[in-house]
Formats: sequence, C-alpha cells, structure tokens
Amino acid sequence: MKKFIVAGNWKMNKTSQEADAFLKSLLEKLKPKAARELLLFPSFLSLPTFQSALAKSFVQYGGQNCYFANMGAFTGEVSPTMLKAVGATHCLVGHSERRTLFGETNLDTAKKIQALQETGLTPVLCVGETESERTNNTTLAVIEKQLIEGLSQSDFSKPLILAYEPVWAIGTGKVATAENIREVHAFIHQFCEQKYKIQLPILYGGSVNAKNCRELEAVEYVNGFLIGGASLDPESLLTIYGG
Ligand code: 13P
Repeated sequence: MKKFIVAGNWKMNKTSQEADAFLKSLLEKLKPKAARELLLFPSFLSLPTFQSALAKSFVQYGGQNCYFANMGAFTGEVSPTMLKAVGATHCLVGHSERRTLFGETNLDTAKKIQALQETGLTPVLCVGETESERTNNTTLAVIEKQLIEGLSQSDFSKPLILAYEPVWAIGTGKVATAENIREVHAFIHQFCEQKYKIQLPILYGGSVNAKNCRELEAVEYVNGFLIGGASLDPESLLTIYGG
C-alpha cells in the first residue's frame, strides 16, 4: 500500500529554539499511522535540532533547497552531502518562491534532482502555474515544460516525489477546487506513466489547512500534501496528519 505523505514546508519561519519547542509539543501527541508518512522541511539551521529531537521518531525531514555541487567555492550554498550528514532524507526542489524570488530555472531543478539522487536523498520537485498562466489556459503546458526540463536528469529507478502547487493558491487562502486539482494531478500522473513508465507520488500544496484537508485528500491522484502556513502549528499539523 502506498502511504499518504503529509509534508510541511516551514519556509523562512522558526528559529532552532522555536523548532525544538514545536517538536516537543508535536511528539507528545503524535502517533504513527500505518498508511501515512510525516515529513517536515525546516530552515537549514534547525536541521541539527531535528536530528537530535527525531532520533527515535518515524518523522522524516529535509532541506527546502540545495545546491547541485557537493562541495567547493559556492558561498552561501548548502550541498546534498551536508543535508545527508544531519539526517535529512528529502529536499524540496523548484518551489515557486525559489523560482520567482531567486530565479531558479528548470535546468537548475534538473541538476539539483540529479545531485540529490546521487547522494541518496529523495527530491520533491514542485511545479505549478501562476494566476495569469491559468487565466490564459496555459496551465498544463507550463507544467509539462517544468516536468520535461526539470526531470531531464532524473533517475527513475530511485525515489522521487512531485508536488503540484498552483502559485495563486500559495499563502493566499484561495484553495484550488477539487476539479482544478483532479485535472492537473491526472495530467501529471498520465504524463509520467506515458513518458517515463512510472507512477510518482503527487502532493498537492496551496492553502491546505485543518478544515479543508479531508475534502482535498479524497481527490483522485492526490497522494499527499505540501503544507505551508498550517504546518507551523503542531495542533493543525496533527489534525491534518490524522491525530
Ligand atoms: P501555504 O499552505 O501557506 O499556502 O503554502 C503552500 C506552500 O507553498 C508549501 O510549499
């Protein structure tokens, strides 16, 4: 049975002290569920806190970004090897904030996926259209390009996760409708089956919260969530995870 993946992207929130307090409160109530995985993406600086707090836990964690070289003169960057050394198992790649605020390209995402897979980490490639791309009816074309170029260096024999995050639904409270989500997830699912002969888990992200999560979870081809704001509070994360 494939597990439903509940993933929280903390973005640039919480100091390592706040992360420690969050994990203490989460672990007091968290009970593992056979059919679900829990995965968190804190700031790089909180990863050592996660490593010690989660040493005996089933909760996995990872980086929000990485560079595609493993060492060298790349001031300010963090490598897949460094992430692995603090117990990270996953890393986000191509989040829309990386693309729009920091100029990350599809070619960058491709190289990062390759470097992560070579290091034994699972990349989570984020794709999604902007509001104007949706209005212009180019949603599926934009996503197809992000997939073709972003997955161009991927090894499909190794773990890989996709996340569909419509840019207009991120942090806005505007959730995509079940039909919007079903259409794009079905497209991604079929595209990967036809082009790469593989079924990859596809997470949905964009204003997921404790109130709408059950309805969104029931949408066909939704294999998990990538949650921003609602993952910052242990109670709402526990509700979305399922108690
Ligand atoms: P929100 O859940 O805050 O809309 O953020 C979604 C997101 O960008 C997760 O990566």
